[in-house]
Amino acid sequence: MSFALQLDEGKEHEGREFTFNDREFTFLADFVNKQVGIVLSEQKKDMVYSRLVRRLRTLNLTSFSEYCALLKSEEGKGEIVNLVNAITTNLTKFFREEHHFTHLESIISELEVSNPKNKKLRIWSAACSSGMEAYSIAMVVRRAINNISSWDARILATDIDTNMLAMARNGKYPLEQLDNIPAGYRDNINIDDYSHDVVMADELKSIIAFKQLNLLEFWPMSGLFDAVFCRNVVIYFDKETQKKLFERMAGLIKVGGWLYIGHSESLHNISDRFELIGRTIYRKKR
Ligand SMILES: C[S@@+](CC[C@H](N)C(=O)[O-])C[C@H]1O[C@@H](n2cnc3c(N)ncnc32)[C@H](O)[C@@H]1O
Repeated sequence: MSFALQLDEGKEHEGREFTFNDREFTFLADFVNKQVGIVLSEQKKDMVYSRLVRRLRTLNLTSFSEYCALLKSEEGKGEIVNLVNAITTNLTKFFREEHHFTHLESIISELEVSNPKNKKLRIWSAACSSGMEAYSIAMVVRRAINNISSWDARILATDIDTNMLAMARNGKYPLEQLDNIPAGYRDNINIDDYSHDVVMADELKSIIAFKQLNLLEFWPMSGLFDAVFCRNVVIYFDKETQKKLFERMAGLIKVGGWLYIGHSESLHNISDRFELIGRTIYRKKR
């Protein structure tokens, strides 16, 4: 045990329900990094504590050391999903970074004109959180394509977080989310009479498949996508993980297809497989 660690162990946060030392934090940070690629720097120690404290209470554990021991054990395998759900940051909203949706609508309309016989559209929302990104895409697709019943249009929406996927499949959101949906895209949403939730109609749900997928692991998809939304997720990964991820993603996007990334993300020094054509909008090179 290092001297620094011994010092730290002597100065636990006063008034906290559980002690949480550097060794436990380092174990959890490494564990999470290996599972899902998220990098948890030392500055995230308080955040990790506050997100996991409920897990300790639920499991009737008395210390973080017991929680770490559980994760190391065979019977702790089932806890990994809860750990990941607790650690991921799921912030999202309808039409977040609205210029991406304006762009998507224009390219779908172009596809319809330039290749009227090809009525197939594939879009991937690669870290969809509670589904608002995928439903926003679906609203755009429904508005952009005149006769959608003659099209084979599908949106794959994936995330690691099982709680978020359950919300996404449910397709009900608090009323205040309505403000984020521009008026012209509200055809396929309803307001529940009792709960006043914003409810996604079957016309949207029917073109989306929500699936659990860890971006670090095997991807079962085989066909190519016209467009991929991979937004506000790689920011949590290190550069090497980002490089590998976008290399794999390039292999799944059509030549000339589109990639949308988050507002604080960039492919500079990460991938040369894409050309920057607009604000955080890339096109797969020929
Ligand atoms: C901040 S949200 C972004 C949601 C949406 N893309 C947006 O921009 O509004 C990040 C999402 O990435 C997911 N995530 C984190 N690590 C992941 C991984 N290894 N594989 C798949 N999803 C992951 C989280 O569960 C979370 O829902």
